[in-house]
Amino acid sequence: MAKQFEDLNLPKMGMGTWNIGGNPGQRKEEIAALRYGIDNGISIIDTAEMYGAGKSESLIKSAIKGYDRSKLFLISKFYPYHATPALERESLEKSLQRLGTDYLDLYLLHWRGPTRLSDTVAGLQALQKEGLIKYWGVSNFDTEDMKELFALPGGSECFVNEDLYNLEQRGIEYDLLPWQVKNKVNFIGYSPFNSGDGNTMRITKNLKLVARNHQATPHQIMLAWTIQGENMISIPKAGKINHMKENIAALDIKLTQEDLKLLNADFPPPTSKQPLASI
Ligand SMILES: NC(=O)c1ccc[n+]([C@@H]2O[C@H](COP(=O)([O-])OP(=O)(O)OC[C@H]3O[C@@H](n4cnc5c(N)ncnc54)[C@H](OP(=O)(O)O)[C@@H]3O)[C@@H](O)[C@H]2O)c1
Repeated sequence: MAKQFEDLNLPKMGMGTWNIGGNPGQRKEEIAALRYGIDNGISIIDTAEMYGAGKSESLIKSAIKGYDRSKLFLISKFYPYHATPALERESLEKSLQRLGTDYLDLYLLHWRGPTRLSDTVAGLQALQKEGLIKYWGVSNFDTEDMKELFALPGGSECFVNEDLYNLEQRGIEYDLLPWQVKNKVNFIGYSPFNSGDGNTMRITKNLKLVARNHQATPHQIMLAWTIQGENMISIPKAGKINHMKENIAALDIKLTQEDLKLLNADFPPPTSKQPLASI
């Protein structure tokens, strides 16, 4: 069984970096936002070889310059068509070079592809043995995918499954999240704001009411809601310092049973199995 987030003393939030690094005009502010996060205890950074075709990883290299590498928790992901042992190694070497580091804390299969899972796991185990990655995991896996993974030799060493999770997208509460809790697989929820600045998430009457009660913004409530469970974190993307500040402050919000009732009324929990949602 892999370790749990709580054992590693990690923050409940990491910094997402999709769409970061692609626009030279925003570079300075994006680096400043990431550095503000690190300075305020957000040691986890989530990226992928896919993000800006490596530009996100290259920007992170500049942002983490001068920080103690051992205090950071860097996550990257490889494409499903790079999921054989040889191609995983090649992708990892390129990611390490772009990030300016000699190991990753966590390396994820971005989503399932044609490669046999057993080959992907064997490749990840070899990289882990060499110390090039500390932990490995998967992303966009549903319950049946997780069960298939756990049936493989070494499959239960999977450290994390990273899936879409926010107030609008709660389908995984029906079966996947209970399965992960039972089998002690950490969970990373991505896109807590449904991948947008608010236009992709309904700011309902009850969401506004709960926000007002906590003297918070609706976005802060959306984020606080996604990280209530143990061994469960969220990775909002904030390219602006004011957003980063708000997101960090949201970690202190404790939602009450009354808040949850109000939110459930506007964003009902699933009552049957839902197809896995992804972005
Ligand atoms: N594994 C996967 O397949 C997968 C898929 C999608 C995403 N992800 C990961 O999850 C991360 C987050 O998801 P996402 O980037 O899709 O979207 P998101 O975090 O749901 O939303 C990002 C948007 O919200 C805005 N924002 C951030 N904080 C805010 C605040 N406090 N108030 C108002 N607006 C705020 C950001 O604006 P500014 O940038 O202008 O501050 C940006 O426009 C990604 O960056 C990526 O690392 C993983």
